[in-house]
Amino acid sequence: MTGKEASKNEARERISYLTRFLTECNQAYYVEDAPKISDYEFDMLLKELEGLEKQYPDWVLPGSPTQRVGGEPVKDFPTVVHSVPMLSLGNTYSREEVAEFDARLRKLSPEPFDYVCELKYDGLSISLTYDNGVLVQAVTRGDGIQGDEVTANVRTIRTVPLQLLPIPGGLAGPDLDTGHSGNVSQTAAAYPERFEIRGEVLMPRSSFMELNARREEIGESPFANPRNAASGSLKLQDPAEVSRRKLDCFLYFLLGPDIRLPDGSLADLHSERLEMARSWGFKTGDYYRRCAGLQEVYEYIDYWDKERENLPFDIDGIVIKVNQTHLWPVLGSTAKSPRWAIAYKFKAERVCTRLNSIDFQVGRTGAVTPVANLEPVALGGTLVKRASLHNADIISRMDVRIGDYVYVEKGGEVIPKIVGVEPARREAGSEPFEFIRNCPECGTPLVRKEGEAGHYCPNEEGCPPQIRGKLEHFISRKAMDIMSLGEGKVELLYDKGLVRNVADFYDLKYSDLYNIGKEIEGKDGTTRSLSFKKKTVENILQGVEASKQRPFERVLYALGIRYVGEATAKVLARHFQSMDALMAASEEELAQVDEIGEAIARSVHEFLRRDKERAVIERLAFHGLHLSYQEEQASTALAGTSWVISGTFSRPREEMKRLVEVHGGRMVSSISAKTDFVLAGTNMGPEKRKKAESLGIPLVSEEEFFRRIGESFPVQPSRPVQSELF
Ligand code: IVH
Repeated sequence: MTGKEASKNEARERISYLTRFLTECNQAYYVEDAPKISDYEFDMLLKELEGLEKQYPDWVLPGSPTQRVGGEPVKDFPTVVHSVPMLSLGNTYSREEVAEFDARLRKLSPEPFDYVCELKYDGLSISLTYDNGVLVQAVTRGDGIQGDEVTANVRTIRTVPLQLLPIPGGLAGPDLDTGHSGNVSQTAAAYPERFEIRGEVLMPRSSFMELNARREEIGESPFANPRNAASGSLKLQDPAEVSRRKLDCFLYFLLGPDIRLPDGSLADLHSERLEMARSWGFKTGDYYRRCAGLQEVYEYIDYWDKERENLPFDIDGIVIKVNQTHLWPVLGSTAKSPRWAIAYKFKAERVCTRLNSIDFQVGRTGAVTPVANLEPVALGGTLVKRASLHNADIISRMDVRIGDYVYVEKGGEVIPKIVGVEPARREAGSEPFEFIRNCPECGTPLVRKEGEAGHYCPNEEGCPPQIRGKLEHFISRKAMDIMSLGEGKVELLYDKGLVRNVADFYDLKYSDLYNIGKEIEGKDGTTRSLSFKKKTVENILQGVEASKQRPFERVLYALGIRYVGEATAKVLARHFQSMDALMAASEEELAQVDEIGEAIARSVHEFLRRDKERAVIERLAFHGLHLSYQEEQASTALAGTSWVISGTFSRPREEMKRLVEVHGGRMVSSISAKTDFVLAGTNMGPEKRKKAESLGIPLVSEEEFFRRIGESFPVQPSRPVQSELF
């Protein structure tokens, strides 16, 4: 075998080993909640796998953990007919109805049975198909008969296994990198060659809050609740964006007759089937319980009615299922729902109150949000006076009118929402509500963008709340972090005409600020007086001065360009390295950057072309703000040294180069008398070795390199990996 073939073989084995090991780590992390390795180690091994797969694309395995976000954005989702219709469930709202359900079944069933109670996840149902343990298809419920194929999007959900365990080819030996036992589940039995499993895709509350915060930050209207956000996310055309939405997926229904227990016998009980699904790597949740009879079912209901607010996601009830699956066909189904299962829905706390008026708030990006002013009413322990109405479509769909009595609910959302109108209490002569046509703040006609539900005021440069919003965004914590200036102070500076754009902050002088003041009305309606004394003025000026040290990406984010959140600003700053280069980039060049879509590219390009914004940026440069990118400095361990890299390493080469730079070193491409060190991996080129030796340049091994930068050296496999695992 030639040296080249040997290294190819090694790479192939490493690819197959890493695929298996990382799949096991994923299961341990997401399903067992017992991580095997640190996030850092995981990321490093994943990067290594990515590097190898890039080099040898033919060997990428279908269930590889690198294949979560892949492929091009899709325009349409193909329609797929379900192999078995996706039924819905009958609903009950009281113990009596649950008791009727139980009595009905006891009469119908030829034998005794028990129940499994589960949470009723508030998301959207999905059907997953696995072929030889690899996820091959994910289809939404649609109308129950046919749905949309959204496989690329579902693949991005971390808790959906791309590859099931155990992976064919026998049990894994000891983990090569950790020495632990390699097989996560000891109870696993083989899964059927091809099968379907159904469950619910949902958005955890934390992801929902984060997403809405991000949307507001970039000037998009927030989602009304986690369910809408989850369903909107699954219909996105770009899997990369779906991946950022951090969805989750619980599985609760394993289809097919041939599900076997580890001892080879058929798994009849639904609870056993869930256990089997769990052992293969599915997230089934720990929440389900076997309940012998009605009493235990009631206990389960009562427990979760109280506890549900402590769950990290929304549920809207519980589901009661007959555990003995061989009884399912005996008990049968109606056209819409099975007879062997039923949902018990929690009553959302709901009150009815009068809608007194509707206000409109104008945000930093000109987005206009309707807000309902209600007759104050107690709900969920607080007095509710205002509720979100989201947008014009929602108002007209519900036909909400001023003076109507409306139902208000508090769900997973922070702000209560109006869920409907009480028609019996409508005043005679009321008129349908007409959405405003002009900005309530500056009078400019509002615009509605194609395909968007929200209205916008286009007068970016002259609409006071938009200008104030931009100033407030600029000083906010994640942007320039000028803590000595709060919203109230910014408003005052704006009202006094001292600050009209973000560059004006840097022209403020002591004499401008000393002793100015006024009465400020807070958001809660209370007023307080504000006037700047010596200490306040000094703090403001110091805060402004200190903000000049913020790195370029923060300045870019602080400018408040639509669609440019923190992460996008970082991507742009890193890619273009300087404001000058970013300003010179065409829309096409912007769109070519990884992670930058067309909408962002257009928005950035338009913003940076405007004379007014360019003038502001010029003034920021004059004041000495950072307008070019500096790599994060991890340490100065390699400061002032120049490096040439040669050979292969346990981490991708790009990563090794990055490490040199973040520790203060410089990468150069060829060895010369000026080179300080050669970072020498395995299979270093003989030419380079000769040259380094002749010039007396020290060769630094990977291990030695990691020691110098103070990081632990990743452990290498201590024995050859098993080949041909797949
Ligand atoms: S079982 C034939 N179990 O509720 C069995 N459904 O109203 C059908 N859902 O469309 C589903 N949690 O989207 C089942 N633990 C659970 C569930 C659940 C949420 C949803 C599902 C279904 C809807 C029925």
